[in-house]
Amino acid sequence: MNGLMRKIKTGILGAGQANIATSNQLPATLAAENIELLALCDINPAVNDYAAQYGVRAYTDYGAMLADPEIEMIQIATPDWLHCEQTERALAAGKHVALQKPPCLTPAELERLRKAASQSRFHLKILQNQRETILSRTIKDIIDSGKIGELREIIIRCRGHRFPIQNLNSPYLKAECGGVWTHNGLHWLDEAFFYSGTLPESVQVFSTRNQVGAPQVLGEGPNYWSAVFKMGRCTFLFEYNTMLTGDGLPNGTCRSVIGTKGELRQDYGSQELLLYHKDNETPRPYELTEAPPQLKDDAVNSFRLALEKFARQIVTGKKESPTIEDSLALMDAIFAGTAGAKENKAIKLGRAP
Ligand SMILES: NC(=O)c1ccc[n+]([C@@H]2O[C@H](COP(=O)([O-])OP(=O)(O)OC[C@H]3O[C@@H](n4cnc5c(N)ncnc54)[C@H](O)[C@@H]3O)[C@@H](O)[C@H]2O)c1
Repeated sequence: MNGLMRKIKTGILGAGQANIATSNQLPATLAAENIELLALCDINPAVNDYAAQYGVRAYTDYGAMLADPEIEMIQIATPDWLHCEQTERALAAGKHVALQKPPCLTPAELERLRKAASQSRFHLKILQNQRETILSRTIKDIIDSGKIGELREIIIRCRGHRFPIQNLNSPYLKAECGGVWTHNGLHWLDEAFFYSGTLPESVQVFSTRNQVGAPQVLGEGPNYWSAVFKMGRCTFLFEYNTMLTGDGLPNGTCRSVIGTKGELRQDYGSQELLLYHKDNETPRPYELTEAPPQLKDDAVNSFRLALEKFARQIVTGKKESPTIEDSLALMDAIFAGTAGAKENKAIKLGRAP
């Protein structure tokens, strides 16, 4: 087999129940052309059933999976507060790591990850699948084709209530976990970085809290965030509104990508992309198409593409975008936004040129 087409042998951590690991990463791994699934691991003994179903090894002890000499790359898909330490352990055990977002929960953990990644000869990648969806890739293609001119503004708004957490003692509901801003902010910030190609130079966040609603969806701390990131000549305006706690209210994500010659718009909950051009009176719907192989499930396909890129990076040694340095810089911006919101001020980001 051509060395570049060698399959990277992987084990998935957190694959013991119906969740992102078993519903998305597992089928994405099976579909990936350059990855071979070798093992699943979870403290939940049901991991044995999943492993038997796919004919792979089962581990209920993470240390035992890390000691498996055949596994080259670990996919970490456990709860957020475990990510930093489990990544450090995997890199120290000589494994490459594909880590779910958010990579960590605090600036101190972020520095630990930066140190672990820079001191290791093994690769660390944050799995940024949002940029691999067909919608994001189509938007990026249109920007790159010059059809909307030079990019000036990206607006992404998410609204609806946060996913309910039935266990009221879950750390996810505690203020120190940072709410959905920390949990999901990187998805959208990385998407904007994908379009703009420029890391943010500054961030200003306004956050507030609606007290009314079920504790399962409210959690502690703010539940509304509005942020402005400066990215070179482009501004990213991002609103994350989980204050809409009433059932039946409209929710979802909408996007507006504005250039010097036109604008792309996608409405809440819609997959339709409209191209407004200064020379055309009416907007033109833009078809989301792509070359095969595309899996039917766009989310699974987005993970397949992200994982295939990482496996390629491991084989060639050539970093694929977003690099780990990029992803950690974006996470810096998320934490800077949290700090700035408390003082109501804009924060200049240290790594900006
Ligand atoms: N990229 C995306 O679109 C996306 C979507 C959903 C979730 N996520 C991320 O994936 C991660 C997992 O989310 P989820 O909703 O699937 O969570 P989940 O709680 O449903 O699953 C986590 C799994 O980890 C296992 N686990 C917990 N502690 C463990 C330990 N010490 N050792 C081994 N296994 C352990 C649990 O038993 C469970 O099976 C989160 O960090 C979340 O942010 C990403």
